[in-house]
Amino acid sequence: MNNGVARTPPMGWLAWERFRCITDCHSFPESCISEKLFMDMADRLDKDGWKDVGYMYVNIDDCWMAKERDATGRLYGDPERFPNGIKALADYVHGKGLKLGIYEDYGKLTCGGYPGSQGHEETDANTFAEWGIDMLKFDGCYSNDSSKAVGYPLMSEALNKTGRPMVYSCSWPAYEGGLPPKVNYTELGEICNLWRNYGDIQDSWDDIVNIIEWWATNQNVLVPAAGPGKWNDPDMLIVGDYSLSVDQSMAQFGMWAILAAPLFMSNDLRDIKPEFVQILQNKEVIAVSQDPMGIQGKRWLNKDKIQTWSRPLQNGQYAVAVLSTRTDGTPYNHSFSLSQLGIPSGAYDLLDLFPKKSMGKFLSKDQISVMVNPNGIVMMRATPVKFAVPLFDIEEWEE
Ligand code: GLA
Repeated sequence: MNNGVARTPPMGWLAWERFRCITDCHSFPESCISEKLFMDMADRLDKDGWKDVGYMYVNIDDCWMAKERDATGRLYGDPERFPNGIKALADYVHGKGLKLGIYEDYGKLTCGGYPGSQGHEETDANTFAEWGIDMLKFDGCYSNDSSKAVGYPLMSEALNKTGRPMVYSCSWPAYEGGLPPKVNYTELGEICNLWRNYGDIQDSWDDIVNIIEWWATNQNVLVPAAGPGKWNDPDMLIVGDYSLSVDQSMAQFGMWAILAAPLFMSNDLRDIKPEFVQILQNKEVIAVSQDPMGIQGKRWLNKDKIQTWSRPLQNGQYAVAVLSTRTDGTPYNHSFSLSQLGIPSGAYDLLDLFPKKSMGKFLSKDQISVMVNPNGIVMMRATPVKFAVPLFDIEEWEE
């Protein structure tokens, strides 16, 4: 959607995958869905370097509301868990230079059983705008296909009418199988800033592999749908949670950057190990994610559980990722050339991004060999070498 926001994939933190619908604050004061949780995360985003590298959104997911609307038909935060109300939370988050996102659902109820927005679209959009909300995730439980086709555009219009720019995240296509003809990506690009195409991520490497496979299989549909202001969303980052190894964490983060995906961490920033912080704050990978051209990457090679991807970047640069889903216990030697990845012929400087380290100069047809760890990634940026004449190539000379 062309509403001035999310011109690059938005970055921040989202409660759902890690904190779910924990509402018992007596037993779980640190992890229940409450204003304290979001204030804590805003503090960490502000103080621990996250904001400085681009993580701006603190996003509430399901289960934040009171079980009923108020006497005037408006939503409000659960009075025990959000005693100061959502507006005060927005003020707090804005005071840190951050943005606040919220969750609703176009149905009778949210997925967690709280009041849905159907029939209250304008009231809810106005309430969110008055509170100072910056992003809305609009879910699709408890409504059918035909009512979704009405509700998602209707909420887009209602948000627009408030005059407050809010990033609009639509779960609609995930409920419709994510593919045409049921899903109309042209329409989505006009009314939403991002959309969930596929199932919910859990704390699981298998889910990541499965999501990446679906993205690759359907890349001819998904790549043209994405661009500045309109992004495919493979769901949250689970780096720093319970399941992923360090290599798997680099793999998720690197692949989400290649996919031009929104980068919403769902982890506990109060208690995250430094090796995961280092991955999630890798500026080179973030620069790939935030490239202003906003072109989504594609898979070009897929053999022996080694996949090779590329993503065009500004100034003739490319990001390249070699992803391994092998489990044979030792790094695998993979060779490829840039010309196999849709990259124009020429000479390129290659930079390894995890860790940042020069790999030297390569012609696009040269073989590049990398060692990729089991369930790991090698992530690179190729920058065209700026010579007045092309690099001398002995093989071409001798042909
Ligand atoms: C759906 C969404 C999830 C989360 C839950 C909340 O499953 O896809 O991302 O928002 O609802 O109930």
